[in-house]
Amino acid sequence: MAADTPFAHESPPAVGSAGQPAGGLVAAAAQLTVTRRYERIAAVYDLFNRPMDRGGALARRKRIVGRALGDTLEVGVGTGRNLALYQPGVRLVATDVAPAMLERAARRAAAAPIPVRLERADVQQLPYLDASFETVLATCLFCSVPDPVAGLRELRRVVRPGGRVLLLEHVRPRNLVLGRVADVLSLVTSRLLGPHLNRRTEGNVRAAGLRIVEGRSEGIWRESVAQA
Ligand SMILES: C[S@@+](CC[C@H](N)C(=O)[O-])C[C@H]1O[C@@H](n2cnc3c(N)ncnc32)[C@H](O)[C@@H]1O
Repeated sequence: MAADTPFAHESPPAVGSAGQPAGGLVAAAAQLTVTRRYERIAAVYDLFNRPMDRGGALARRKRIVGRALGDTLEVGVGTGRNLALYQPGVRLVATDVAPAMLERAARRAAAAPIPVRLERADVQQLPYLDASFETVLATCLFCSVPDPVAGLRELRRVVRPGGRVLLLEHVRPRNLVLGRVADVLSLVTSRLLGPHLNRRTEGNVRAAGLRIVEGRSEGIWRESVAQA
């Protein structure tokens, strides 16, 4: 594909020395468990999320997604709850690891106000060239990814210099007691559904070498704009 076509971002997937996915078998097994969980809950995912969106998450989604510009990569697109919210002018590649989630996203992609290409990809090992995208976006993803810092490093790699990484994530409460409650609840949610409730995502963003240039906090929610 020519370098100036809208979706010319492909590169061969990274593999380790034994031909296994980078990160090794343990990492691959951890991801498989997460992927299977989302395969299982894909049919009811929107049912769980509707009340959350009505309770304020939709306004946050609109705010963060509305900032995407130009060639954009959305990672962990899920059932495509953000797809209707992009502004004209965005050309979107949207990825997820779980085929059942992508199937649902495909229905929303067909009705989206912008061109969308859906692909199956693991955020910890993105099949895109360095500096491919002006905007990279994730909502409610890094609670589920087994190695969030590896995923965030990939976002740093594929975003263009001067481009932006846009994140909307729920994080571990700062309050000592609520933080502990989140630790306990997380044992259940991560096993039954997928998401951890106690991720320290802002710390992970910095650990991945990204700079947070804007942030907004509301309870457990963090909206962050980061740059490489
Ligand atoms: C909580 S859902 C969020 C979906 C969507 N972003 C939203 O805001 O509704 C987490 C999504 O991340 C996907 N996921 C989990 N691990 C992933 C990975 N390593 N790479 C890409 N997607 C992943 C799951 O399949 C699921 O669709």
